[in-house]
Amino acid sequence: MSKQVILTGLRANNDLHLGNYLGALLPMVDLQKKYAGEYQINLFVPDLHSFTTPIDHSKLYEQTMHNLKLFVAAGLDIENSDTYIYRQSYIPAHSELTVILNSFTYMGELSRMTQFKEKGEGKQNVSAGLFDYPVLMAADILLYGAMYVPVGADQTQHVELTRNIAIRMNNKFGELFTPPVEIKKQLEFMSQNERLRIRDLVQPTKKMSKSDESGMGVIFLSDSPEIAAKKIMGATTDSMGKVQYDYETQPGVSNLLDMLATLSNEPIGNVVKRYEGQVQYGPLKKDVAEAVKTFLTDFQGKLANVNTDKLMHKLESSEAEMNVMANSTLTKVQKAVGLRQ
Ligand code: TYM
Repeated sequence: MSKQVILTGLRANNDLHLGNYLGALLPMVDLQKKYAGEYQINLFVPDLHSFTTPIDHSKLYEQTMHNLKLFVAAGLDIENSDTYIYRQSYIPAHSELTVILNSFTYMGELSRMTQFKEKGEGKQNVSAGLFDYPVLMAADILLYGAMYVPVGADQTQHVELTRNIAIRMNNKFGELFTPPVEIKKQLEFMSQNERLRIRDLVQPTKKMSKSDESGMGVIFLSDSPEIAAKKIMGATTDSMGKVQYDYETQPGVSNLLDMLATLSNEPIGNVVKRYEGQVQYGPLKKDVAEAVKTFLTDFQGKLANVNTDKLMHKLESSEAEMNVMANSTLTKVQKAVGLRQ
């Protein structure tokens, strides 16, 4: 019997940041360490998702290849035979299934997606690609029957939508898809209390995002460790004079605590305890700055040593195998909806 699948994707429309790393890449690498052998691990670059918002197209290919290297620098073991890395557009079934799923997804559902509302807000020309992007994401997941999808908090709604589309189509056509498991069970599987949402350092009520224009609120994985440490020291906090983990009243401080806990792989409660009773934020910021600096120095060292030939070999063999797997699901769907006999 084939193995159950754990799957996630990270777009390549810009360099990845600490939010992407802590929210999705690190959890995926941890799951590989824990479950490879038992589960199939799919980590891919959703390159067709890259231009749902405007980008510099002349850099996309290079950025895609760079991001694949980031996976390895983050600790993904590409020698593991249950692990697959690939580019979405190299597996045409993703696009084909999207067209089919579109007719079983409602405009109302897509209009309610927070990401669509946030990214489209105030823009004169919002592309149909941005509106439809969760359906492409559903195809990414359903083609491989992925049960677990480690993502940050901003993508949870899309995983729920995927589940709804799968259940709807199963009700109509019989057991076509394996829906991803409910979010609560996903969290249990990943030993998480909730999905992570790393905040912008300057405006901690907003999430850390690639589209931040000044770059001051975002730690990019390519930032020099010294600059990153400075960004942490300059992070917005508050004037309450106490260290508490409460995003309602102290989002800046809570964000720093979350960064420290995930970087040091410690339960958040333990980290909070260490700062109990402190009235200054300096020591906390210094510890986070140090943790970020150490992490980036190590990460960038590993990145410089990624073996590109091995990576290309893994990429090409994964794409060949995943084309077979994806086409098998696609054929099943084509038959179910009456396109094939
Ligand atoms: P993307 O490329 O915007 O982000 C990649 C991953 O990083 C997470 N993330 C964060 N986590 C914590 N704090 C933050 N500030 C933060 N910012 C981003 C995202 O939640 C995501 O997990 N549509 C997806 C990519 C995608 C995908 C898929 C994911 C396409 N198909 C199938 C899973 C399965 C996206 O745009 O993520």
